[in-house]
Amino acid sequence: MLYVRMVNAKIKQLEKAIKNIHYNPPKTGINADPKRREFLKNFWDYHVMTVAEASQKMAVKYGGDKDIIYIGAIMHDIGLVYSKQKHDLVGAVKAYNLLVKKGFGKKMARAASNIALCHRCKEEFPKTVEEKIVASADAIAHFSPAYYLGLAVIANEDYKDLAKNNLKKLIKDYNNKIFFEAEKKKFKKVVKAFKKIFREK
Ligand SMILES: [Fe+2]
Ligand SMILES: [Fe+2]
Repeated sequence: MLYVRMVNAKIKQLEKAIKNIHYNPPKTGINADPKRREFLKNFWDYHVMTVAEASQKMAVKYGGDKDIIYIGAIMHDIGLVYSKQKHDLVGAVKAYNLLVKKGFGKKMARAASNIALCHRCKEEFPKTVEEKIVASADAIAHFSPAYYLGLAVIANEDYKDLAKNNLKKLIKDYNNKIFFEAEKKKFKKVVKAFKKIFREK
């Protein structure tokens, strides 16, 4: 992954730590279920990394602080390790505390925390270019076949069922979460195809 390799050593270290949190979450509560732990591992590989890569590509096109964007991208779903509900709110707190603990400074911690907080466009809406980029990349990542493949492995469902079940979310995210016209245009055809193939007749 070319883009991922471009980040500095300190962020690379952080990425390792966040990956480890997804790969080896606390085996209590929601993560007592081994399937959930497998899901989190897949989620890192098939979703978070896709979001990080798409975010970096957009950072080159649309600007913003590249470090904030990358850190925000790799931490945007960290809340899912700890909660099935409101993972944006949970993740914002976790991201802030973790970044301060690792010496990133309060400004960076706040910026990355806000990315996690508004990435779903539910509790809060993206305002900065960094927040808009990660929210858009998150919506775009839902078009990745690997995302569904990763979910299908753990859900024991086939690809077609998963895509069909996620169609509503996919379209909603496309309409509400992609903040850049060029990206929206790029996926217009794909949305049409998804609708045509998977919509119940
Ligand atoms: Fe999320
Ligand atoms: Fe996400």
